[in-house]
Amino acid sequence: MIATVSKNFFLYLSQNKGLNQAAKKWGLKFGAAQVVAGVTIEHAMQTVKDLNENGIVCTLDHLGEFVSSREEAIQATEYNVRTLEAIGKTGVNSNLSVKMTQLGLDIDKDFCIKNMCQILDAAKRTNNFVRIDMEDYSHCQVTLDILRELREVYGFDNVGTVIQAYLHRSLDDVKDLKGIPLRLVKGAYKEDPSVAYQDKPVIDKNYMRLIEEHLLSGSNTAIASHDHEIIAKVKDFVKKNNIPNDQFEFQMLYGFRTELQQNLVKEGYKMRVYVPFGDDWFGYFMRRLAERPQNVSFAVKGFFSK
Ligand code: FDA
Repeated sequence: MIATVSKNFFLYLSQNKGLNQAAKKWGLKFGAAQVVAGVTIEHAMQTVKDLNENGIVCTLDHLGEFVSSREEAIQATEYNVRTLEAIGKTGVNSNLSVKMTQLGLDIDKDFCIKNMCQILDAAKRTNNFVRIDMEDYSHCQVTLDILRELREVYGFDNVGTVIQAYLHRSLDDVKDLKGIPLRLVKGAYKEDPSVAYQDKPVIDKNYMRLIEEHLLSGSNTAIASHDHEIIAKVKDFVKKNNIPNDQFEFQMLYGFRTELQQNLVKEGYKMRVYVPFGDDWFGYFMRRLAERPQNVSFAVKGFFSK
């Protein structure tokens, strides 16, 4: 009961536009620095370099979502292009993750696609890959439509997306997206029972079903979870089904389960850490607090130590 109230509270805060705007001026607060790698590209490059030295590859996320002006979307596009150029120039091992609402999806789909094409052109020039994060359910179908258009109309093969196991539709989506690199996750937003499973055991079961489906179809699969039970099941499954190690990777968020990340590297698995950075950190941080009440303790400690 308390966990549900706290989850809903933090999810509500994550979507509060006023707080998200205000937090941009605060700098990283409430312990957010433990899960956000600073506010500049230089901070981000240093963090990636440190992780690379420990055998971990990365995906960088310049934080930002629910953008409502064209100027902001253009700025975000340029920032993402600069991030790809910085990755190329420094030679660190990282790809990029982006959200379609950051590139203006809520303003105009074609404008968002045009922005995404600029980012994918920069990724091509620097020999890199871009993953489209999946946002709330209201953006799911349009995000998948954009992915198809980018790949089939514009011919970009260096782009993939994310599928969320809590959605009823996801098994059909994974089957439709056979051959396309997918990151599979449980799902981080508050969704209606008419479209999303609500019970953890049901979500976990569907999650394994999606992972197995995509792996068995020979497709490149990222298993993005901090759940050691899921990870153990995946290790078992790939062994039994002779899935080669270069067909899949584990992914975790920056600052979470760092020991488990290192253990997976030592066991010879590819481990990619999602490294968020930038001043638009508030919504991301609130979603992490919603997911795991234990995370609240370091937020509270951070609040009092600032
Ligand atoms: P979950 O929260 O279900 O926890 C399961 C169990 O794992 C816990 O009971 C505990 O035992 C253990 N555990 C989990 N976290 C732990 C910790 N920090 N320390 C110790 N034990 C822990 N979502 C989305 O909707 N769209 C997206 O694009 C993405 N992208 C994304 C990228 C990456 C790299 C990751 C890792 C995650 C996402 N997500 C996401 C978020 C995802 O949907 C999900 O909300 C979180 O990963 C939480 O679910 P988990 O599978 O990690 O474990």
